[in-house]
Amino acid sequence: MAAEPASPANAAEMRAYYAQRAPAYERVYAKPERQADLRTLEAALPGLFAGRCVLEIACGTGWWTPHGAARAAAWLATDINPETLAIARSKALPACVRLAEADAWALEGLPDDERFDAAFAGFWWSHVPLARLPAWLDLLHARLAPGARVVFIDNVYVEGSSTPIARRDAEGNQWQQRPLDDGSVHEVLKNFPSREDALQLLGSRALDATWTALPHYWMLSYALA
Ligand SMILES: C[S@@+](CC[C@H](N)C(=O)[O-])C[C@H]1O[C@@H](n2cnc3c(N)ncnc32)[C@H](O)[C@@H]1O
Repeated sequence: MAAEPASPANAAEMRAYYAQRAPAYERVYAKPERQADLRTLEAALPGLFAGRCVLEIACGTGWWTPHGAARAAAWLATDINPETLAIARSKALPACVRLAEADAWALEGLPDDERFDAAFAGFWWSHVPLARLPAWLDLLHARLAPGARVVFIDNVYVEGSSTPIARRDAEGNQWQQRPLDDGSVHEVLKNFPSREDALQLLGSRALDATWTALPHYWMLSYALA
């Protein structure tokens, strides 16, 4: 298979893939071998965002939103897809939560006067092409106040639990072949960064960085310099 550049065209495919997957998305949180890790992460989130005004990127169906927002002052959960947002909207969420459509690649259309002193993204980092990560982090950081708390959660690759890696492209991105219920198969970019990869990329922009390594997930928390 030819190596494709991880271009904005792939971003459009990813958006469409998650729109189509929305009704079945939360099955990924029912995997028995991941339950202990999920409880650990859910328990860790409220304290990280206590009293903060938080911007959530790519919130999807809002699985993490009630946990992160439990003690937050304000929480703006954003996603590009109305299909995933509709599911999030159907849930009982803390009173501080608002939901909005926003494209994570542009982060436009957010309230101009809103100052965020924290950001959260679950399972977004792994979908950002390696070549776009530095600029994307700059884009996110530009929306945040100095000292803001930034938290990412994402997958560890686990043989037998994770979807196998089908190929690696010329830029070093990994790609999976993912089936949906209608029989369609979608090629999705999914990287599995190490602690060193992530911290090296952030460099001096991340202070007080903490990397939590669980069997199936990692969590990175830092203060924006
Ligand atoms: C792996 S899911 C993560 C959902 C949620 N954060 C979670 O952890 O359950 C990726 C999400 O990214 C959203 N998405 C895809 N492209 C996007 C974009 N350009 N801007 C914002 N969200 C996007 C999808 O709709 C989907 O909800």
